[in-house]
Amino acid sequence: MADFLGIADLGVKGLRSVLDLAAEFKVDRAHRSDLVGKSIGLFFEKPSTRTRVSAEVAAIELGAHPVVLRQDEVGLGIRESVADVARVLDRFLDLLAFRVFDHANLLEIADHAAAPVVNLLSDLEHPCQALADLLTIEETRSVDGCVVAYIGDGNNVCHSLMVGVAMLGGRVHVVGPAGYEPKAQYVEMAKLLGNSTGTAVQVGTDLGLVDGADVVYTDVWASMGQGADAEARAEVFAPYQVDADLFAMAANNAIFLHDLPAHRGEEVTDAVIDHERSRVFDQAENRLHVFKALLVHLFR
Ligand code: CP
Ligand code: NVA
Repeated sequence: MADFLGIADLGVKGLRSVLDLAAEFKVDRAHRSDLVGKSIGLFFEKPSTRTRVSAEVAAIELGAHPVVLRQDEVGLGIRESVADVARVLDRFLDLLAFRVFDHANLLEIADHAAAPVVNLLSDLEHPCQALADLLTIEETRSVDGCVVAYIGDGNNVCHSLMVGVAMLGGRVHVVGPAGYEPKAQYVEMAKLLGNSTGTAVQVGTDLGLVDGADVVYTDVWASMGQGADAEARAEVFAPYQVDADLFAMAANNAIFLHDLPAHRGEEVTDAVIDHERSRVFDQAENRLHVFKALLVHLFR
């Protein structure tokens, strides 16, 4: 069975089918029995609200049994080697979903487990978030041909979003301070998987890249694990705060997205996150519907 370590792992066809199924699940929230008899591990090396609750509820609504594990009890790489944790959990569980600091640990887990491994956020990608982002965009307009302005840190959320939007034919303008761009390998991946003209991603420091965008997206300036850097980052990122003036540069029907948790007054002002065209709580809810669809897809 396939792993889901990055958004590209689904392929365009798989991505389309997960999003379509998620939209159906959103309309009909009835409990199902697709995954009866399956036990699903959800491991967290970092804090989580949306991911933990959406994944646990998703498993229950499909008839599976979720087992939630935290780093303070497992000691991944401390109490026991990463490979041995993977080998042991693989004997008990039908799917291993992990939130980790280091993406390399996910690759190692996948190497040592026969069960599918799912990325619940790493330093490089947040693919379950990207699924919810895409579903939320599609609730307003097609991703094909749309322009998403991502403002801020070229981080895990940015990487998965860029690649996912490109896979569905959209474009992403990444705007932020020099030195905090997305990794070149993800820009290249998005360009490769995107439209044949190679214009799926533009990266720059100029806020003019927000002009006329259909979606305005931002994330925290310092991700989990970057707390020591937070003060320096706050200074560098200040010109990129998404306030009402910046949001007004986008199309007049543009929507605002943020994966949450938000640091109100830092990367986004209350006026924007609470705007009538902000979709952040639909986006959070969509984490549930896409995770259900992903589980069904992986066990198909
Ligand atoms: N967006 C997201 O992944 O939220 P949590 O960190 O609360 O899971
Ligand atoms: N980029 C953020 C996303 C949190 C959901 C982080 O990694 O902390």
